[in-house]
Amino acid sequence: MESALELFRRAGYDIPGLSGESRRLIFVSPENEMTFLIVRPSDVPTYVEYGGADAGIVGKDVLLEQESDVYEPLDLGFGACRISVAALRGEGAHDRLSSKIRIATKYPRISERYFNTRGIPVEIVKLYGSIELAPVVGLADRIVDLVETGSTLKAHDLAEIEVITQSTARFIVNRASFRLKQKPLMELIRKLRVAVRSQSVLSRNGRPSTVLARKRKAARS
Ligand code: PRP
Repeated sequence: MESALELFRRAGYDIPGLSGESRRLIFVSPENEMTFLIVRPSDVPTYVEYGGADAGIVGKDVLLEQESDVYEPLDLGFGACRISVAALRGEGAHDRLSSKIRIATKYPRISERYFNTRGIPVEIVKLYGSIELAPVVGLADRIVDLVETGSTLKAHDLAEIEVITQSTARFIVNRASFRLKQKPLMELIRKLRVAVRSQSVLSRNGRPSTVLARKRKAARS
């Protein structure tokens, strides 16, 4: 959230009052002719795909999991982390290929695709958070989860076995909006691209959650 706001500021879009602390979820910015929405990271692709927002900022991890039909023109660079397979230290090497390995994760699709491609039979247990607990209490053999610094794995005596993919924050656009509001959206993408290049945005655990929503007026040609 902070990284996303900082990027917008550097791109010339200062939105007074917009903050993750606020209970308000919608911010109208008349000077920018935009409205900003704050939604959960996992809901961002849905808002954008269905046109509740013209564009949004969301992690690549969420996009890979949801396979949403959105245009993804820009890697914003911040929120860098990876999706990895991990197991209790010392147990990662023991593949019980005769029986299914049980995987706890909040990324069931990514996990299923990954293990299917390798021909490894798995049973997926979907969780919504605190994934690292699952191997500790015997709920799962392995986990597939986000790793940023690795300190949560370490704190639970878990070891990273394989990296499935890297993830960073992405700017996504509704496909129809991109055709209908091409001029203002291209202008926004151009400014964001310059801001991304001009300075790397630092983020700790920066799962962004701001959706840039409806352009209030259609662009005049
Ligand atoms: C994420 C992820 C890991 C942790 C990784 O959890 O699921 O638990 O961050 O970060 P680290 O490698 O820097 O330790 P999040 O904070 O989103 O909480 P959650 O478990 O409720 O999803």
